[in-house]
Amino acid sequence: MHHFHYTGHDLHCESVDLAAVAKLYGTPTYVYSAATMEENYRRLQKGLAGLDAQLCYAMKANSNLAILRHFANLGSGFDLVSGGEIRRVLAAGADVKRSVFAGVGKTEAEIKLALENEIFAFHVESEPELARINHVAGTCGVKAPIAIRINPDVDAHTHAKITTGKSDNKFGIPLKHAAAAYEAAVKYPHLTIKGVQMHIGSQLTSVEPFVEAVQKVSPFVAELKKKYGITYFSIGGGMGIVYRDALASGDQAWWDAQPADQRPLTPETYGAALVPLLKPLGLKILLEHGRFMVGNAGVLLARVEHLKRGAGKNFLVVDAAMNDLVRPAMYESFHEIVPLHRDSSRRALTADVVGPICESGDCFAKDRQIQEVGEGEHLGFMSAGAYGYAMASRYNTRGMAAEVLVKGSTFELINARESFEHMVSGERIPAFLK
Ligand code: LLP
Repeated sequence: MHHFHYTGHDLHCESVDLAAVAKLYGTPTYVYSAATMEENYRRLQKGLAGLDAQLCYAMKANSNLAILRHFANLGSGFDLVSGGEIRRVLAAGADVKRSVFAGVGKTEAEIKLALENEIFAFHVESEPELARINHVAGTCGVKAPIAIRINPDVDAHTHAKITTGKSDNKFGIPLKHAAAAYEAAVKYPHLTIKGVQMHIGSQLTSVEPFVEAVQKVSPFVAELKKKYGITYFSIGGGMGIVYRDALASGDQAWWDAQPADQRPLTPETYGAALVPLLKPLGLKILLEHGRFMVGNAGVLLARVEHLKRGAGKNFLVVDAAMNDLVRPAMYESFHEIVPLHRDSSRRALTADVVGPICESGDCFAKDRQIQEVGEGEHLGFMSAGAYGYAMASRYNTRGMAAEVLVKGSTFELINARESFEHMVSGERIPAFLK
C-alpha cells in the first residue's frame, strides 16, 4: 500500500501533482511520500503487537535528514553502519541512544564516536572486532554495549548480492562458533553483553526464510539469556516490497485479487508467523527494516529527452541515469516506469528505457511496454525510495539529484540538486602542474 495514484490523468503523490514538482524543481528528482512511510511504520508495529518490539530503521536505505527526522518522530531508532551515519542521526536531531551500529569494519574513530554518543549497542561481526571495541572503550573509560551477529546459514532466496545469512557471506559469526565468541566477549573488561543479532538478506518475498532462521537460532538465544542475561534479540531487516506491479499495489483491491499462495509478504503475515516464535523468548525484539519502510514511498521523476527509433528497436532516452538509480544496472532489478500524464488515446510503445551515460549498462528496462511519450514529457520510476538516492554517484559529472518530501497537499525540497561548483569544490590542481 502506498500513496501514489492517478487523479484524472495525472500521477499524484498524496495530493500533489508530480508534474508540478517536476516543473518546479526540474529532473531527475526523487519524491517521497511521508504518509506512506508513516503507514509502513505503523503497520509493522501493529503486526508485531504482543512483542516488546523496537524498530531501528536501516538508514542505509535512505538517509536524508528529513526522512530520519520523520522516523525519529514516529519513535524509531536507527540501524547505522558508519561514523557518517552517526553524524546524520545527530544532524537530524534524533537520538543515537536508540540506535545500533552494524558492519564488518568499524574503525576506532567510528567506535569512539558511537561510544561518545551512547550507542544502544554495537553489532559485532568477528572476534577481532570484540578486541578492538574493548580497547577503544577502555581508552574512553566506559563499557561498550555489544551483541554478536550470528550467521544462521539460511538461504534467503534473494539476489546473490543482497543475501547475507549464508555461511559463505562475510557477515556475522557462524552459529557453531557463536558460543565461543560470547565466552570470549564476557572476559573483556570493557564490554557488556546486551543481546544477539542476525540478518539473513534483503528483498525477501516470503516469510519462510525468516521463520527458518528464528527457529534455528532460538534455542541458542534462550541459552544466552540464561547465561549472560541478554535483554534483546535483533532479527534484522529484509522484508521485501512489490516492484513489478508497484503502482497497482497502492490499492487494497490489488492485494485482495492476489491468490493467497502468491500474495507478497506483508507486515501482517510477517508478524503473524514470527510473533508466536519470538514471544516465548521473553526478550525485547529489535527490527532493522530499511527497504520496507521507504522503498514504495519514493518515485524518481525523469524527463524524456528523445524517442530514438532504431532498427527493430526503440530507445527512450531520459535525463535520469544509472548514477541516479543504479539498481537495474547493478542487480538487474525491475522498476515499474509510468508516465506522469496518462493518455489512453496514445499508442503503446515497446522500448529500452535508457539514460545518457556512456555505457550500455546505463539501461533501466529492456523491451518495456509503455505509453508512447515524447520529448519534454515526464516518467516516474516507481519503488525508488530505498537504495535509490542512497546509492547514487556523480559518474559522468552528473550532480546528485534533488529530493522532495510530500505530506498531504504540501511539499518541500529536502535536498537541492547538486551544483557543479559543489561537485568540484574539493578538487585542486597541484602546484607541479601549474
Ligand atoms: N540490517 C542489516 C545488518 C543489513 O545488512 C541490512 C541491509 C538491513 C538491516 C536492511 O535490509 P532491508 O530491510 O533494507 O532489506 N542495495 C541493495 C540492498 C542491500 C541491503 C544491505 N543490507 C538493494 O538495492 O537491493
